[in-house]
Amino acid sequence: MIWDLKIKNGTIVSGTDIYKADVYVKNGKIGAITSEILAGDVNEQIDVGGNYLLPGLIDTHVHSRDPGPTYKEDFSYSSQAAAAGGITTIFEMPNTTPPVSNGKNFDNQKENLQAKAYVDFGLWAICIGSLNNTNIKELHEKGVIGFKFFWGYAVHKETFQLMYNYKPGMDNVIPPFDDGEVYEMMEEVAKTGKIFAVHAESNELIQKLTARVEKQGGRTYQDLLKGRPNLVEVLTVKKGIEMAKATGVRFHVLHVSSKEAVEAVREAKQQGVPVTVETCPHYLFLSDEDYEKVGPQMKVYPPVKYKKDQDAIWKGIADGTISHVCSDHAPHTEEEKDGDLWSIPAGMCGVESMVPLMLNAVNEGKIEITDIVRLLAEEPAKLFDVYPRKGAIQIGADADFTIVDMKKKSVIKRENLHSKSKVTAFDGFKVTGMPIQTIVRGKTIMKDGIIVGEKGYGKLVTPVNHSPGVHSS
Ligand code: NCD
Ligand code: ZN
Repeated sequence: MIWDLKIKNGTIVSGTDIYKADVYVKNGKIGAITSEILAGDVNEQIDVGGNYLLPGLIDTHVHSRDPGPTYKEDFSYSSQAAAAGGITTIFEMPNTTPPVSNGKNFDNQKENLQAKAYVDFGLWAICIGSLNNTNIKELHEKGVIGFKFFWGYAVHKETFQLMYNYKPGMDNVIPPFDDGEVYEMMEEVAKTGKIFAVHAESNELIQKLTARVEKQGGRTYQDLLKGRPNLVEVLTVKKGIEMAKATGVRFHVLHVSSKEAVEAVREAKQQGVPVTVETCPHYLFLSDEDYEKVGPQMKVYPPVKYKKDQDAIWKGIADGTISHVCSDHAPHTEEEKDGDLWSIPAGMCGVESMVPLMLNAVNEGKIEITDIVRLLAEEPAKLFDVYPRKGAIQIGADADFTIVDMKKKSVIKRENLHSKSKVTAFDGFKVTGMPIQTIVRGKTIMKDGIIVGEKGYGKLVTPVNHSPGVHSS
């Protein structure tokens, strides 16, 4: 036997255990995990030197703007940013131009991203009501990761780009979908057994409350929160939970930002409703109190809320209500983000800073290193049915690894980000704990912060298609 790669002296971390062993790789897969010296030659050796060896970490929520507004970001940039940030697989969001709304667009997108990919990737499909209800089945069969619905958003009629600051009466806009249309989308997605994931904000409430604030001349961050209070999220989440009960769809709440929404999901889970929820670093590490320091860079939808919400989200992480953490990487140019809070688009970079921020939280005692693997590898892989091919150090799994040095100190700096648009709310943030090597299917693609992988190496990952109601989590 000739092994392609041996990874030695590693301390392997799973979602529950920490143990020492060497890992042997053949043809991009894990062939052995053992403390014994195996017979046969080894082509390449990596000495982990006592650092942690984690399964390759996954970011389930990335907007690379490609194809479409690629002046903001494109997939060669975002997948290098992922590699630099210790991410081996990203799930790409479908709000591109054209969107991933039918089988043909799926095929084109697969080819487009494949040519630029440094890391492996899965593809989300979009739900746009009667415009693509009849395409849900083919998208499922093509192998989408899940179905995404931007609940509360209007989209542009031709480009399907999100209208960040929508007002009724705007030209060339498809207004937000109504409850009946949402119900129909859920019925269609339920037939596939895949996740129906929503951005959860009530447009009706946003319109009324924002108009009220504007009338009083309000333009501060606190005013933005008055226009999009916690009720905006929890109302939509509760509606979705009831519709999930009625349709049987696997309902997933994206980027949760409020205490009330975390509690609503906790309660529904206890009742056995098929609901899950994720959150992002900006909700874990920022609150309204940071706005003065950070400024408009921090504008994201749903908005970063109050300290009490941050606390409730950490509680949701601790008790397992929140399945996983992802970045909601959503770049806009620095010029776009420099304007006034009211008119600039929502979103910021995240794919590169997520793992450092989460490792820093381990060093601060907020979570354990095993939680990193649970939240960034095992749970997302299980939820989206790519486990154990992804998300696990197991024999037969893809040889994806993230090596982390828990003592390494770094400062997140916007100018060092690999994204095309370097917009982050974490500029100047000091962290201890860094990913130092990223390995995808046995090949090192990042070492000590330097990208050493090749464009076009990343491959599409498709989930195991189960019958509705049956999945691996
Ligand atoms: C996202 C984007 O720009 O694509 N922006 C954001 O503020 N989160 C869209 C979204 O997820 O809402
Ligand atoms: Zn969203």
